[in-house]
Amino acid sequence: MRLTFIDVHVIYPGLEIPALNGVNLEIMTGERIALVGRNGSGKSTLMLTANGILRPRQGALLLDGQPVRYDRSGLRELRRNVGVVFQNPDDQLFSASVYQDISLGPLNLGLSHSEARDRVLQTAEFCGLSNLLERPTHALSGGEKTRAALAGVLAMSPRFLFADEVTNSLDPWMRQQVLEILERLADSGCAVILATHDWPLASAWAQRIIWLEGGSIFRQGKPAEVITAHNIDTFKSR
Ligand SMILES: Nc1ncnc2c1ncn2[C@@H]1O[C@H](COP(=O)(O)OP(=O)(O)O)[C@@H](O)[C@H]1O
Ligand SMILES: [Mg+2]
Repeated sequence: MRLTFIDVHVIYPGLEIPALNGVNLEIMTGERIALVGRNGSGKSTLMLTANGILRPRQGALLLDGQPVRYDRSGLRELRRNVGVVFQNPDDQLFSASVYQDISLGPLNLGLSHSEARDRVLQTAEFCGLSNLLERPTHALSGGEKTRAALAGVLAMSPRFLFADEVTNSLDPWMRQQVLEILERLADSGCAVILATHDWPLASAWAQRIIWLEGGSIFRQGKPAEVITAHNIDTFKSR
């Protein structure tokens, strides 16, 4: 599958300066991508646009070459394929228990309770949460919350996963666990797009780096092509 941004402009209500300013981008399933750029460069906006929470003011989002429709069924189709894990897991976890939270997505997709149950158990195992299914989400540690939020999205079997700075607030051990989940996910053929400020992580983990600046793509390519002294000097002199 292929997710394409064509000249995408996103402007938040009441603001004049676009948060995304003409983004052209193509992502294929199976890719491992790091999305980098300073605070306010548009990383989160790009992710929220990818699954239709935000809508381009100008330009278009295409799934397998077909323009995304922003009605109920079009958004459902988009979200079945494109998942986003928010930067703050508390924005994503609503339910009384981890089990209920992970089951929300599959139930919303129209799966039966027993199919949803299978998905929950599988995903919980994949994310190392099997022992925590009855735990209230507010009683989870930071790393557990991140994994629960991730599991809730993965239970919908997305083909593109956008993970917004999910490794940021974690200790090194938890961070490693989350990275391993993302790694296995990419190996299974899902595209994984990770927003991060961690440049060493980005260059070690990603096949492609997308570097945003002021809502536009400043550079993109293989880590060794993107993270060069020249590009960093150009970036700083802007
Ligand atoms: N909910 C919002 N309302 C208005 N402006 C926003 C909102 N979220 C982000 N912005 C603005 O959009 C731009 C891009 O922000 P964002 O996508 O959050 O960047 P990043 O994730 O790279 O830090 C910034 O100028 C930011 O202030
Ligand atoms: Mg952000």
